[in-house]
This record gives sequence, structure tokens and C-alpha cells, in this order.
Amino acid sequence: MTVNGVPVVAIDGPTGSGKGAISRSLAAGLGWRLLDSGALYRSVALKAGREGFGLNDPQALAAAASRMQVEFSPALDPEAAYLDGEDVTALLRTEECGAMASRIAVIPEVRKALWVRQRDFARPPGLIADGRDMGTVVFPEAELKVYLTASPEERARRRYKQLIQKGIDVSLPDLSEDIARRDERDANRVVAPLKPAEDARVLDSTVLSPYYCHAPIRFWKV
Ligand code: C5P
Repeated sequence: MTVNGVPVVAIDGPTGSGKGAISRSLAAGLGWRLLDSGALYRSVALKAGREGFGLNDPQALAAAASRMQVEFSPALDPEAAYLDGEDVTALLRTEECGAMASRIAVIPEVRKALWVRQRDFARPPGLIADGRDMGTVVFPEAELKVYLTASPEERARRRYKQLIQKGIDVSLPDLSEDIARRDERDANRVVAPLKPAEDARVLDSTVLSPYYCHAPIRFWKV
């Protein structure tokens, strides 16, 4: 099925499952648009921190989520993000921003505001949607739903490598703890918890390189 005539592939999974890298390479290979929904939650977290809205003010957070201007420039840098015109690529990728995004993501008003914005990414010729609830809530009619997973140890190791490569100083034990906390929060929240859609294809990437994940997804899509 399509979303308003646009084919959508939903790629969900926890932090470090490889969904970001795989979504980016699929979108580039197919020439489709990419929705990095985590970057939207991270943008709300950044805006909230700057404008002083706390977690106890869902209305202000939801208003910020509806109002903020977010742009991505995948042609320049696959992770490039601009919030209200400012380049926030590096700021969005910090562990603090990710942890705050995960706390904001439990708030139903924020999820509702971002639902509308995420649906708007479905434009021709097609969309690769990367997140936690793409197949279950945002694009239930996606033509293909993939749920990527990997062992917690491997996911922590991947995140560690990524952050160190970006020059961000982290410790592996701290990162493992943070990932466990985020998994717990994402999987147990009341609204849109992280789980595979009933019709999702589950792919365990623990011992697979991105190339070997890419191949079955391209095959399922045909
Ligand atoms: O994927 P990323 O790490 O950038 O997402 C940051 C946080 O945003 C996640 O830990 C998760 O809590 C939340 N999120 C979400 N639903 C999505 C995407 C991200 O709840 N579709």
C-alpha cells in the first residue's frame, strides 16, 4: 500500500541497530526522500533546552514541535540538519540531546504534533522512514516494514565507535547504561512504544555489515 500514492518503506529499531546507516544508503540508492524521525525529536529537545521549556509543560513542547522549522540537506551531508535556519548537525548528535529527546518522546502531545509533520515527508518518488514507530503508528500503510535489531553489547559498541569518530568523548560503560535506559523508556512508554509492527520483517544485524542488511531489504521491496 502507498501513502497518498507515495511508496513508503518503514525502518524501525532501537539505538545502534544500524537503521540510520541502512536508511540513508537505501534512500540514496533509490533516489527517495529520507525521514530521520529521531532528528525531529532531538530538534524539539534542543529547542526546549534553549527556550527553557521543561518536561512539565507539554503544551509548550508541542507548540515548539509544530512551529520549528527543520531542514535536512542529505546531498551535502547525510546527517546535516538545520533548525530555524541554524546548522545544528553536531548539536543534535550529542548523547545529552539524545537522552533528552527520549524523555520528551514519551509526551503524547509532542508525538501528536510530530505525527503530522512526519506524514508530510511522504512525497514522490518515495520515502524511507527511519524511527521507532514508523511502521506501527506514523505509516501503518507502508508497503514494507523492517524492524532492525542487534544485541545490546553490539549496539553500544557501534555507538561508541560512531561518537569517538566524531571526536565526542564517551565511555563505553556509560554509553551501555544510557542505551539500556533509553531502550527501557522507548519500549515501555504508553504511546507508540518501540516494537515491531505485526507485519514487519525482523532483521537481526548483530553479525551483519550494512551491506548484508541492505541486500534482503532491497529484495523484500521488489
Ligand atoms: O533515533 P534517535 O536516537 O535519533 O532518536 C532519539 C530519541 O527520540 C529516541 O531515543 C527515542 O526515544 C525518540 N524517538 C521516538 N520515535 C521516533 C524516533 C525517535 O520516540 N520515531
